[in-house]
Amino acid sequence: MKNNMRPADMKRINTPALAEAFINEQVEAVRAQVGDKKVLLALSGGVDSSVVAALLIKAIGRQLVCVHVNHGLMRKGESEQVLEVFRDQMDANLVYVDATDRFLDLLAGVDEPERKRKIIGGEFIKVFEEEARKLEGIDYLAQGTIYPDILESDGVKAHHNVGGLPDDFNFQLVEPVRLLFKDEVRCVGHALGLPASMVERQPFPGPGLGVRCLGAITRDRLAALRESDAILREEFAAAELAEQVWQFFTVVPDFRSTGVRDGKRAFDWPVIIRAVNTVDAMTATVPEIEWVVLKKITGRILAEVPGVCRVLYDLTPKPVGTIEWE
Ligand code: XMP
Repeated sequence: MKNNMRPADMKRINTPALAEAFINEQVEAVRAQVGDKKVLLALSGGVDSSVVAALLIKAIGRQLVCVHVNHGLMRKGESEQVLEVFRDQMDANLVYVDATDRFLDLLAGVDEPERKRKIIGGEFIKVFEEEARKLEGIDYLAQGTIYPDILESDGVKAHHNVGGLPDDFNFQLVEPVRLLFKDEVRCVGHALGLPASMVERQPFPGPGLGVRCLGAITRDRLAALRESDAILREEFAAAELAEQVWQFFTVVPDFRSTGVRDGKRAFDWPVIIRAVNTVDAMTATVPEIEWVVLKKITGRILAEVPGVCRVLYDLTPKPVGTIEWE
């Protein structure tokens, strides 16, 4: 029986030295737990799974098999970064599955938000299961469960919207960060040498850009969403807002409005900028972004993103508006 309660005397991991000590302890624990057996991990590139991957690579090297499923709803450059950091720099045993067409074909014409989420979550499990079945001799499944998942949702990662793998897999779980809070996971991630852009990453929903490309997802609007989001992130970083604002992204609705471009009438999509500050995501406020920054972002999106003729800033706090639009 694994201990899932944080001991009362457990120190908060908030210095490189404490992170080192935690890493050494876990490396030993994982080696003792899995011996020479193989461990499977779904590596999304989010903070928790990335830290678990780096920790297990340190402990058992290529006995860890990472599967990165690109569902086609990742932000610009995200899957590439996973490959670069884990496969190229850390020599991870990494299976990369580009399932973009599978997901987008299934989602075509589906405009109901919860159905979109279900399709994305369900298909993710299916793709992961298919890859797991191709692999031989795997006894363990690693997961990036963290302490709030245990406290808040019975050990299931919050918002996963997915079931689990079928029972016949019979994997034993490896959850090395299950007693850590998010800031501690980040501290450990830094100590493991992961790039700051990965460790300090803002929350990103499991269904990814799928819940920000409103209504039925189309490839052209998805491209506009990905490009405008990348511009927003670049400009927030340049204005030193990236560390100050809790979550920020763009949204592309499924309607058009009239514009004029090069003297001709255009009929294109709006891009909505959403930025929020919050402690627990239950309530959120909207930061006052300087006009000059918003104007620069607007100018760049209009000049660089095809199919967009309008940019808006969402002023709605939560409640009443949720952080995501769907
Ligand atoms: P809302 O929109 O409910 O978002 O105010 C609160 C936080 O949860 C994130 N979010 C999700 N995360 N799967 C996830 O993994 C989801 O389906 C999902 N929906 C919302 C959202 O980005 C915000 O941080």
